[in-house]
Amino acid sequence: MLTLRRHLFKGRLKKALEPPPPSHYEYSISPKTYNFKVPSTKQTLNPIQLIYQKAVNFPFDKSNEEVYNSYPKVTSNQLLDRKTRPRGVSMSTADFIEDSLYNKHYGYFAKEAEIYHPDKPFNYPNVKDIDGFMEAWGESYSKYDQDETKPLQLWHTPTELFNPHYGESLARYILFNYKVNGNYPYEDLIIYEMGGGNGTLMCNVLNYIKKHEPQIYTKTQYKIIEISSQLAKKQKSSYSKKLKEEGLNADILEIHNVSIFDWKEIVEEPCFFIALEVFDNFAHDIIAYDMNTGEPMEGKVLIDKKGDFYQFFTRELSPYTNAYLQLREHGDFSVLRYQSTLQGRLDSIKSFYKSVHPLLESSTKLKVKQMIFPFNDDLSTPEFIPTRLLQFFQILKHKFPNHSLISSDFHYLPNTIKGFNAPVVQTMLKKEMVDVRTYMVQQGYFDIMFATDFEIANDMYQKVTGKESKINTHRGFLEQWADVEATTTKDGENPMLDFYRNVSFLTS
Ligand SMILES: C[S@@+](CC[C@H](N)C(=O)[O-])C[C@H]1O[C@@H](n2cnc3c(N)ncnc32)[C@H](O)[C@@H]1O
Repeated sequence: MLTLRRHLFKGRLKKALEPPPPSHYEYSISPKTYNFKVPSTKQTLNPIQLIYQKAVNFPFDKSNEEVYNSYPKVTSNQLLDRKTRPRGVSMSTADFIEDSLYNKHYGYFAKEAEIYHPDKPFNYPNVKDIDGFMEAWGESYSKYDQDETKPLQLWHTPTELFNPHYGESLARYILFNYKVNGNYPYEDLIIYEMGGGNGTLMCNVLNYIKKHEPQIYTKTQYKIIEISSQLAKKQKSSYSKKLKEEGLNADILEIHNVSIFDWKEIVEEPCFFIALEVFDNFAHDIIAYDMNTGEPMEGKVLIDKKGDFYQFFTRELSPYTNAYLQLREHGDFSVLRYQSTLQGRLDSIKSFYKSVHPLLESSTKLKVKQMIFPFNDDLSTPEFIPTRLLQFFQILKHKFPNHSLISSDFHYLPNTIKGFNAPVVQTMLKKEMVDVRTYMVQQGYFDIMFATDFEIANDMYQKVTGKESKINTHRGFLEQWADVEATTTKDGENPMLDFYRNVSFLTS
């Protein structure tokens, strides 16, 4: 009572009972509108920035350093089992993306993303042309439309669409190289597949080996490394089904329900390592360069107590960011070296009307931009860098020292967000695919997909593993290894070769 009176007297009770003032959101401002640099550049007062600050809920009244340092840092691994989205923390961009995609409860993949699987393979010689193929594809797709209980997000992969021919092309490639490498008949044929999806590729490959090389089949082991428990179950059941139908051997299959980034065992034996359409969801970090010094600064996502996102850039480079920049600059695709060439200078002029690497952007353009939109704290356009891909190559080097890689993924994706090497961020809304403009969106509702720069990936792979490797187009690889005749339509068209023009292979 005494306390109450005292509060009354000080006029504080009324305030304590009042609900907090409603949050004011200005929806024309996205989390990427402002970049907060730590430490911040001393800015002269800019009238446009002042007007902006007054017009919207400018988030912080302390200095960038004070705000950033007051938030504890977390990683996606620490958040993996959490049931609720984090608030009041900061983390690297790669950790934010990984948490959004892979958290066990609210992550995008926890929501039963499904991979399209036709009930029966398409019969190409019976189809007139590519239009006929599209029609047949549409009809097979309708089972997903009718079933309201099915999730709406469906991946379409070449493995499924061109089943069994696509998988068989890999089997041919593997058998040829197994023999050429001199491992046959001394070593078992060991195949690892990361991200086995529905298990279709595994069945296609094993069936092919059993049918065409029964001797080698008796020496074959197939092991899947799969992050999703739901897909790991599916792989087991699709294999058991095949087993019953076609008498495959149960002992040769192992399914490891684990992320490749948590792989512990060292596999000394020679093996093939398949990774199809997995790189695109590997998280990236983000770098912006200081306009005045060229220094790279790494982006961190800060999530305030209300769950709103802000982007801070600091000098704290993660070990993988550092390693990536070092590898790139000492490799065949050094941007700094290119910057001083005639072509590099021309690119700087082109940056007025075309996207170029941020280090090549014209400093005049950046200065003018900073005067008109003074919210970037003197930073360049951001660049997304494939730090998890680099980590994956290091895992290959240390845990699978005698592997041969067979990987394939997108080298180009349309409708990306702004930034260099930026991802597509999209979700299904009322059966429509909707693209958004930032990756800092409610975790788990959006797919975040990156195209792979295969030239840089190839260079990085060689530098990390010391192995020889090469890039091929989707078409180039399949022309060499697939049964092209079996996938040709009556009119002589070939959807397996013609589709997926934005996909490349990296093999070693
Ligand atoms: C787009 S699907 C491709 C499936 C299959 N390779 C195909 O082509 O049909 C990506 C697959 O990779 C798996 N995956 C993603 N990240 C992974 C990781 N870090 N470790 C292991 N598997 C992963 C997914 O669960 C899924 O099975």
